[in-house]
Amino acid sequence: MIDTIKTHLQDVEVYQASSLDEVEQFRIAYLGKKGHITQLFADFRNVPNEEKKEYGQLLNQLKTEAQTKVKELQTQLSGSQTPKGLLNDITRPGQPIALGARHPISIVRDKVIDVFSRIGYGLSSGPEVEDDWHNFSALNLPEHHPARDMQDTFFVQTNPDVMLRTHTSSVQVRHMEANRPPIRILSPGRVFRNEAISARSHCVFHQVEGLYIDKNVSFADLKQTLMYFTKAIFGTAEIRLRPSYFPFTEPSAEVDIYWGLETEADYRITKGTGWLEIMGCGMVDPQVLKNCNIDPEEYSGFAFGMGLERMAMLLYQIEDIRMFYENDVRFLKQFTSIS
Ligand code: PHE
Repeated sequence: MIDTIKTHLQDVEVYQASSLDEVEQFRIAYLGKKGHITQLFADFRNVPNEEKKEYGQLLNQLKTEAQTKVKELQTQLSGSQTPKGLLNDITRPGQPIALGARHPISIVRDKVIDVFSRIGYGLSSGPEVEDDWHNFSALNLPEHHPARDMQDTFFVQTNPDVMLRTHTSSVQVRHMEANRPPIRILSPGRVFRNEAISARSHCVFHQVEGLYIDKNVSFADLKQTLMYFTKAIFGTAEIRLRPSYFPFTEPSAEVDIYWGLETEADYRITKGTGWLEIMGCGMVDPQVLKNCNIDPEEYSGFAFGMGLERMAMLLYQIEDIRMFYENDVRFLKQFTSIS
């Protein structure tokens, strides 16, 4: 009889259950009214006197171990099981969903598109891998032209005619080749320059190009359009056009907005002038129109190009351009509430 208890002790020790139902069956089998332990207690009186002491001790041990086992398994399994009623309870709160955020470059790009779409600009896009004609030659930058040095180019090694576009102005050419005026387009996209990466410059960045071609388009139209734009994005129409040079526009200008000189940061980012350069622009050079089979006697137009990283850095006071490409969630999630 003592051996029976010992076998039970071993069984209890190794017992494992995979559900609460199984634990309950185990409990009934050992501790229930007709269970092994109750039965063994009832057998006590038939145990020979000299064995009674050991029998009693072992039986009590079996009872405590069985009780502990039941408790242990119950706590273990109840954590991983949903009580039946809850499964059907549709009023239970749902799992929280982690909200994503738009990338600041996308936010600014969409804002620019939105502002220009209100005055009739559509979208146009072109390839990131370009040929010499669209990136340079058609834009008045023939081979060996010194202005090509303004933009350090990534060439496809085996073919000097193929490169990563250095600006979105290549899309101007593609669009004018394929469409007749009036033309009013915006082309946002990625551009590539062989430049050292620093807090202020990167070898991959984003531009938005604008192009407007029609009869009698003048420099005054360009200025008015830019004022409308800076008012919508930066809240000020106070701009100045500084004479500049681009091979594909004549005359050409850099656009500065008046940023102000109120804080120490204003002094720093405007280098003490209060003015900030935000983009390049100009009247499309008649030769570029000719290259795209548009008659410069009949049509004229303007173009402008801006860097999206630069705009986002100004709008959100981001100090280092590299932050845009590091995918650091702590940086990105700050834009959740900005639309
Ligand atoms: N493509 C010029 C640049 O990358 C910007 C520009 C676009 C200037 C259109 C004039 C007109 O710097």
